[in-house]
Amino acid sequence: MHAMTPKTTSGAAAAGAPLDAYAQHPDYKKRHMRFPTSAFLRRAAPKHIPFFSFEYGDTGAGADVGIRDNWAAFDNIKFVPKYGLVATIPPVEVELFGRRYSAPIGVAPMGGPSIVWPGADLAMARAAQQARVPYTLGMVGGATIEEAARVAPDVFWFQAYRCAQNDHELGFKVIKRAQDAGAHVLALTVDVPFRTTRSRESYAGLGGEFKPTPRMIGEMLARPRWLLGLLRNGYPRFATIRSYVGKPNPSTNETIRFARQQMGGAFTWDEIARYRDKWKGPMALKGILHPGDAEKAVALGVDGIWVSNHGGRQIEALAPSIDCLPAIVAAVGKKATILLDSGIRSGQDVMRALALGADAAFAGKSFLWSVGAMGDDGPSHLIDLYIEELRASLGQVGAKSPADARNMEFSHPGAWQF
Ligand SMILES: Cc1cc2nc3c(=O)[nH]c(=O)nc-3n(C[C@H](O)[C@H](O)[C@H](O)COP(=O)(O)O)c2cc1C
Repeated sequence: MHAMTPKTTSGAAAAGAPLDAYAQHPDYKKRHMRFPTSAFLRRAAPKHIPFFSFEYGDTGAGADVGIRDNWAAFDNIKFVPKYGLVATIPPVEVELFGRRYSAPIGVAPMGGPSIVWPGADLAMARAAQQARVPYTLGMVGGATIEEAARVAPDVFWFQAYRCAQNDHELGFKVIKRAQDAGAHVLALTVDVPFRTTRSRESYAGLGGEFKPTPRMIGEMLARPRWLLGLLRNGYPRFATIRSYVGKPNPSTNETIRFARQQMGGAFTWDEIARYRDKWKGPMALKGILHPGDAEKAVALGVDGIWVSNHGGRQIEALAPSIDCLPAIVAAVGKKATILLDSGIRSGQDVMRALALGADAAFAGKSFLWSVGAMGDDGPSHLIDLYIEELRASLGQVGAKSPADARNMEFSHPGAWQF
């Protein structure tokens, strides 16, 4: 089933020396007893972080229908195991864009993780580097490009939004900076042509600029560990773009206003071709759901298709990305590296994505649950969980490697027909 071997390495760094064996955290068993799955991290997070922090990281658009649909779509993919094929739990190393990673799992780009947990960006970057899995810094994340590159030199990817003012001045400047800092992959996000609102975020007091209300201040005071993190790391800031605001040391709100004025509008294919031209390494388009768009992107020399509905955060009426994946793999899987996110909560979900033809899966919200529940230690535990669950799941159904998941017997009733 789905026997394809998509690979492209255009412009990629050479495949490196063998990886150090993936090292599980020495306290994994202890941590596992407290947080055996990502759902337990999600359950614990609100006890340790302010209400507005949890709501910001956990909300979807509208009534969260998109999030629930994403989860249900994964849950509906079922396997029939084949026995006698694997004697040991399989290794899960993969090659992505010409570089070896210890597992086909990565951190998706996020704006404002430090609202959830002060310092979250670098905590995720450190954990990804330690485990040797991709870490994607968001353009509106809370660490600078240089900080992320320093902390995660082998696994650093960068995400950019469309910033078209003055002939893409900011966009081109920022990707040049990421290139100079050594980012392996550039992901251009195409699925945020307009800002949309998220009801839980607005209700929690984060609809517009950052103005803590008395209620929010009360929430912060009730979470001393979070407050300590805030004192250590400072107010949530948009670290990379604040240097372009045009004045020294701009406030968070000045940076938010600047970002809103700069970002937005839908990428045209001509613009994507210009980014393709400027970025010398592997480049992916993030937010693709239609195989026709994937074909256009690949025709322009894009190396990676990042199948995503933004985790259900933009609008809730989108098809689950996992349901669009098979058609995209059929269209461009032999020519491009296929990445997927939106709804990943377990290693079994990662296996489902691999079985349907993804080369790697990424997670967003679950990393925020992890910092919410465990602070800086959260991301490394979540990566351990994903890797251990993936290895166990592959072994359980009889797959010898991540790519072999495609050869397993499975059903996918939700597959989207185009
Ligand atoms: C708080 C938050 C902020 C996000 N910000 C960005 C962003 O700045 N750029 C981007 O491309 N995607 C962003 N995303 C989307 C993620 O990259 C990813 O597509 C999504 O979270 C995956 O779905 P999941 O949360 O179900 O794992 C964000 C997601 C969250 C949860």
